[in-house]
Amino acid sequence: MTPLSIYHHFDQQADCVLFEGNCLDLLKEVPSNFVQLIVTSPPYNLGKSYEKKQNLNEYVKQQSVIINECVRVLKSSGSLCWQVGNFVDNGEIVPLDLVLFPLFNNLKLHLRNRIVWHFEHGLHASKRFSGRYEVILWFTKTEKYYFNLDPVRVPQKYPQKKYFKGPKKGQLSGNPLGKNPGDIWDIPNVKANHIEKTIHPCQFPVELIERLIISMTKEEDWVLDPFMGVGTTAIASLIHQRKSIGAEIMPEYIEIAKHRITLANQGVLKIRPMERPVYDPKTPDINIPPKKVKMEERFQIQPKLLEKRGKFKNSRGSK
Ligand SMILES: C[S@@+](CC[C@H](N)C(=O)[O-])C[C@H]1O[C@@H](n2cnc3c(N)ncnc32)[C@H](O)[C@@H]1O
Repeated sequence: MTPLSIYHHFDQQADCVLFEGNCLDLLKEVPSNFVQLIVTSPPYNLGKSYEKKQNLNEYVKQQSVIINECVRVLKSSGSLCWQVGNFVDNGEIVPLDLVLFPLFNNLKLHLRNRIVWHFEHGLHASKRFSGRYEVILWFTKTEKYYFNLDPVRVPQKYPQKKYFKGPKKGQLSGNPLGKNPGDIWDIPNVKANHIEKTIHPCQFPVELIERLIISMTKEEDWVLDPFMGVGTTAIASLIHQRKSIGAEIMPEYIEIAKHRITLANQGVLKIRPMERPVYDPKTPDINIPPKKVKMEERFQIQPKLLEKRGKFKNSRGSK
């Protein structure tokens, strides 16, 4: 097992920084133009155990201070992904991406996608339709940004489709590595039966963050999550050999993050694989079991992923 250097304060020698406290205190320690990717889900101001519900303008002001600091530490080739849902008050919803967008826009960031993350589980509403999506606002700091689509391509619907006329007649018409996954992502959220579930009420699924990390960063790049919760961003970064910085105010979540990272370093942390399709009751046999992730194997994950996707297409019904 490779020793993993986990630090509790920012240090450039670390593989992983787990800072217990307010993210603003951590951000002060991070140099400008340092991290390649910031990916986070902030509190939604809903009065969860880890936040105090406040006036929406106050909330936006607080977010603004943190966002300014995040943009300062972001490299010019870097990306910032802010994952949010709705603020809800007395049954009335305010999509947080609408109220936060002007903050990013004023900082002259460039919006590349408003990714819709669709999932099936959540509260059942009775006076409106149940909420079944949240969004990821993906911004880049400049126009010269790093993005690699190939490792996150998904299987083509008709992989054998060929040009039927013209100079390319007979050749495959789609990219053999797969197609662009688009901006609507169907990824199960982490509810009771999810293999990654901890005590955190709203943790990310690792596969959601993996897709961002492997397309927007290179190995050894730094990834920051100012609202780290139980360390999902850190895990997704470390298993792909990126370095991770995160802050969390709740000590019990920091402990769980440390434990999950240790399990991953030992090769026994189970996660839902990116290549596993969403469960469909019409084809219940199609299944890819949870995979154990190990940090030493992180370099090999990308080619294996594509290989497995190919196998999956040809072996419907088998595991
Ligand atoms: C929506 S949750 C993020 C969960 C995370 N994505 C995961 O997968 O576990 C927001 C987290 O931010 C933490 N938090 C709230 N205010 C904070 C602050 N000022 N600095 C650092 N963490 C904070 C909360 O305790 C909570 O765990």
